[in-house]
Amino acid sequence: MKGVVLAGGLGSRLYPLTKVTNKHLLPVYDKPMIYYPIEALTIAGIKEIMVVTGGNGAGDFLRLLGNGKEFGLSRIHYAYQEGEGGIAEALGLAESFAEGMPICVVLGDNIIEGTIIEAANAFREQGGGARIMLKEVSDPERFGVPVFEGDRIVRIEEKPKKPKSSYAVIGIYMYDSRVFDIISGLRPSERGELEITDVNNAYIEAGTMECSILKGWWTDAGTIESLLRASTLVASTGANKMQEF
Ligand code: DAU
Repeated sequence: MKGVVLAGGLGSRLYPLTKVTNKHLLPVYDKPMIYYPIEALTIAGIKEIMVVTGGNGAGDFLRLLGNGKEFGLSRIHYAYQEGEGGIAEALGLAESFAEGMPICVVLGDNIIEGTIIEAANAFREQGGGARIMLKEVSDPERFGVPVFEGDRIVRIEEKPKKPKSSYAVIGIYMYDSRVFDIISGLRPSERGELEITDVNNAYIEAGTMECSILKGWWTDAGTIESLLRASTLVASTGANKMQEF
């Protein structure tokens, strides 16, 4: 399985912190934010990684990460997203890198306490389709939220005003090569973006979506509040830890 870290977008919710730099270069406790999703992949044994970036400071990723030696990698692949056309648009730029292999996608502002090893193994065993990861949260309206019928997910709603469950779909997704066909058929949402939730709903409609519940804490770091929370969580327990919870 190959890995893709999505680090494009304008980071407007963090303005003015993102006025002259990219959100994913900002510090989370003692490291730049982008380190955490890259480590989440390498710790799960995923060694072929593409970073999709965009907006301000794109060249700084190359200066910061180089060939990925610090992460035990021999090289990192890069792609540049022009504008802010959405998470699914950014992922579409990884098509030639994926070369038809399954991929694990991590949003560049998502940080986890533990690992995705169990979910990655489950995805390898399911033989195709997709796998999302869920976490129970107190503020699901900020995220993609699964709608359940019994224990089956029937659809995901993006930032619903009235969430139908208390789970968030976290920003770690595993897909087979069909994902790029799905992306090429997407239309922009009301906010003008190609939505990852529409990709996930296509897999749900096809009956090929599975899910895992993440153990340990999870946070995004895309708002002032969550950026502070991310630093506090990392400072108190550490992130990407190889231990059972
Ligand atoms: O954090 C998990 C949530 O991430 C999910 O629950 C939602 O379903 C999903 O839509 C997403 O929600 P956000 O609105 O928080 O995503 P945001 O626009 O903050 O983008 C998250 C990351 O995706 C960002 O750090 C970089 C990448 N991205 C985003 C956009 C819009 C890109 O690479 N390109 C883009 O155009």
